[in-house]
Amino acid sequence: MATLKVRKLKSFPAEISVPGDKSISHRAAMFAGMADGRTVIEGFLPSEDCLCTLKAMEAMGAEVEPLEELEGVGLVKMAVTGHGPRLKAPAGPIDCGNSGTTIRLLSGILAGQDFTTEMFGDASLSKRPMKRVADPLALMGARVEGQGEKICAPLKITGGPLQPVTYTLPMASAQVKSAVLLAGMFAPGKTTVIEPVATRNHTERIMSHFGVKWLREGNAISVYGGQTPRATDIVVPGDISSAAFWMVAAAASPGQQITLKNVGLNPTRTGVINVLLRMGAQITSFETDSRGEPRGNVTITGGELNATVIGGAEIPNVIDELPILAVAGALARGNTLIKDARELRVKETDRIAAVAENLRRMGVTVTEFEDGMEIVGGARLHGAEITTYHDHRIAMAFAIAGLFAEGETVIEGSECINTSYPGFEHDLAMFFRNETGEAPIPVLTRVPRPVGK
Ligand code: S3P
Repeated sequence: MATLKVRKLKSFPAEISVPGDKSISHRAAMFAGMADGRTVIEGFLPSEDCLCTLKAMEAMGAEVEPLEELEGVGLVKMAVTGHGPRLKAPAGPIDCGNSGTTIRLLSGILAGQDFTTEMFGDASLSKRPMKRVADPLALMGARVEGQGEKICAPLKITGGPLQPVTYTLPMASAQVKSAVLLAGMFAPGKTTVIEPVATRNHTERIMSHFGVKWLREGNAISVYGGQTPRATDIVVPGDISSAAFWMVAAAASPGQQITLKNVGLNPTRTGVINVLLRMGAQITSFETDSRGEPRGNVTITGGELNATVIGGAEIPNVIDELPILAVAGALARGNTLIKDARELRVKETDRIAAVAENLRRMGVTVTEFEDGMEIVGGARLHGAEITTYHDHRIAMAFAIAGLFAEGETVIEGSECINTSYPGFEHDLAMFFRNETGEAPIPVLTRVPRPVGK
C-alpha cells in the first residue's frame, strides 16, 4: 500500500497541464471500438479506469495500436480500429476495476450484442448499485443478472433483440442516461431518455463527433437505432475534475496565481468554476478551441474565500468536485452547506461520510446530513491520518487540504489516485520546490514520446 505525505505548501507552480478527461476518454474508447475503421485518440487518460474500458473493447475485437506515451502518466495517444457496433464475444469475464463508468456504459453496449458477457470489479465497485442500469436495459429486452437487491457486480448480461423505450431517469445520472442511449443504438427506431435534471452530455457530444444521429427536445434525448459510428480522430481535453484540485489550492491562497492548461470547459462540467467564483475566487478562462468539446486555459487568482450553498440543479454539474469543494468550504469564512447530494453516498465510497470524517480529523467541525453536510469554515487545519476508502477523489482532496495544514497529513493507500490522475504526485511535488527550484520528487517535463522510442 502506498502512502502520500503532505506538508504545508512552500511554492506555487505557474501552470499545470492536467491529464485527459476521464468521462470523455471512456467514451472515446467505446465509440472508436464500435466504429467502422481507425480512430486516433489523442489526450487519452491512461488511468486504471479508462484502461479497463480500452482493454474491454480490445477483448471484444477492437485493435489498439499504442502511439505516444507521456512520462509519469502513460499511454496518451493510440489508434483504435473498430469493426462496427456488433462486437466479438470476449474470451472471458471483463474486469471493470474500480470504474462505474466502464461497467454501466458497457452494460448498454452489451445489451445489444448477441452473446452473454460477465463483468466484475473491485471490492468498491462490487458494492455499487447496478439496478439503475439493469432496470431500463431489462425493459428494452436484455437480461441483466447481478447480486442481491441492488443488482451488484459481478454482472451477467445476455444481449437480446432490443426494443426502443422512453425512459425517465429516476436519479440524475449521466451513466444511466448513457447506458440507455448506447443500448438504443441497437434497438430499431427511437429510444428516448428524459432527464429531469441536466447531467454531463459527453455521450451526446461524442455521438455527434462519430456521426451518430440523435435529437434533443427539451429535456428528452433520443437516439435512432441501427447506426454505425464513423471512425473520426478525437482529441480529449484535460479533465476539469482533476484541475479542480489545483483550482482550490490556488483559490484559497491569497496572492497566488496558477494557470491550468487545456482544460475541458463543457458547460455541464464547469460548475466548480461557478462555485469558486461565488466564494470569491478570481477566475478567468479562455476558450482556446473546440474540437467536439470546448476546452481552454483557466487562470485562478487566490484570495479570502467566503462560504456558499451548493445544491439543487447545480449538483450533477459538480458531483465529482464536491469532496474538494468541501475542503474549499473548510478554508473559507463562514459555514458552507452542501445539500441535495444524496448520490455522493453511492460513489466509489460514501463520500459524505468519508469527507466529514477526514475533515473532522483535521480539526474542522462538520454536521453530516443524509444528502450533504455543513462545514464550519475558518478553523486552523492540522495534519492527520486520512482514510481514503480506496477512493481517488478523497485521497486527492485531502492531499490539497494537507497543503494548508500545520504538520504532516498522511494519506494511506494513495495508489488509488491512479484511478483518475496518474502523475498527481509529480504535479503535487511542484508545491514543494525549494529556493533552488528542487522538488522532493522529480518534476517532469511532459513531452509526449512515440511508443517504443
Ligand atoms: C460519469 C458520471 C457521473 C460521475 C462519474 C463519471 C460519466 O456518475 O460521478 O465520475 O462519465 O458519465 P453518475 O452518472 O453516477 O452520476
